[in-house]
Amino acid sequence: MRQTIIAGNWKMNASKEAVNTLLLGVLKGMMDVKSEVIVCVPYPYLCQAEALTTHSQLKIGAQNLNINISGAFTGEVSADMIKDFGVEYVIVGHSERRSLYGETNKIVARKVQVALDNGLTPLLCIGELLEEKESGNTKNAVARQINAVIERVGIESFKGVIIAYEPVWAIGTGITATPQQAQDTHAYIRELLAQNDENIAQSTSILYGGSMNPDNVDELIACKDIDGGLIGGASLKPDDFLRICKAG
Ligand code: PGA
Repeated sequence: MRQTIIAGNWKMNASKEAVNTLLLGVLKGMMDVKSEVIVCVPYPYLCQAEALTTHSQLKIGAQNLNINISGAFTGEVSADMIKDFGVEYVIVGHSERRSLYGETNKIVARKVQVALDNGLTPLLCIGELLEEKESGNTKNAVARQINAVIERVGIESFKGVIIAYEPVWAIGTGITATPQQAQDTHAYIRELLAQNDENIAQSTSILYGGSMNPDNVDELIACKDIDGGLIGGASLKPDDFLRICKAG
């Protein structure tokens, strides 16, 4: 039985005041939440987030990491550094990093490896572009993304990986994949894993991301192969985020 996981991705949205409001707002409703809840905050607020969430059910994640552990990499942040702030999870390969910062499938696979080697759980984001969807290439796109990681880290390592399927056309657009569209791709991703190891395929959590909100969460999460959500916009509104967390 896979536990429902809800992860918030604040992206580049925060201030000291907003972090207090958001985290305290979520924490006050956590007693009714059965899902595992992760909030991925921008680097400068990790210390504040750690202080606010210690001894709570709320787990902290980062949104990226560098493939190196230390050294002359100006402006970059390593796995060790984020771990210093109680971080257990890290988003890897978000479509914004792939499209805006040139992260290829190879780079993403290396980041998954670095996260795993350093005791972090990667939230591996995959998903097709609008053109790929429209040309009937959704399966090819997600297969390339998943297989690049399997080749690098091996299927066994997926025991420590959470996958987030985020169709790029659904991210931040208000257009959500229908439950059927999402379920079909989630089932395909599980099948890709099963081609390598059936048990790992069954135990791997596959979250849906892309305009998930309090109105569509129930029907998405009810799908057999959807194990939770990666939430962008709605994670910035504590009441909406809590409602999503309670859906599990
Ligand atoms: P969204 O973002 O919920 O605002 O669509 C999801 C994500 O980018 O992870």
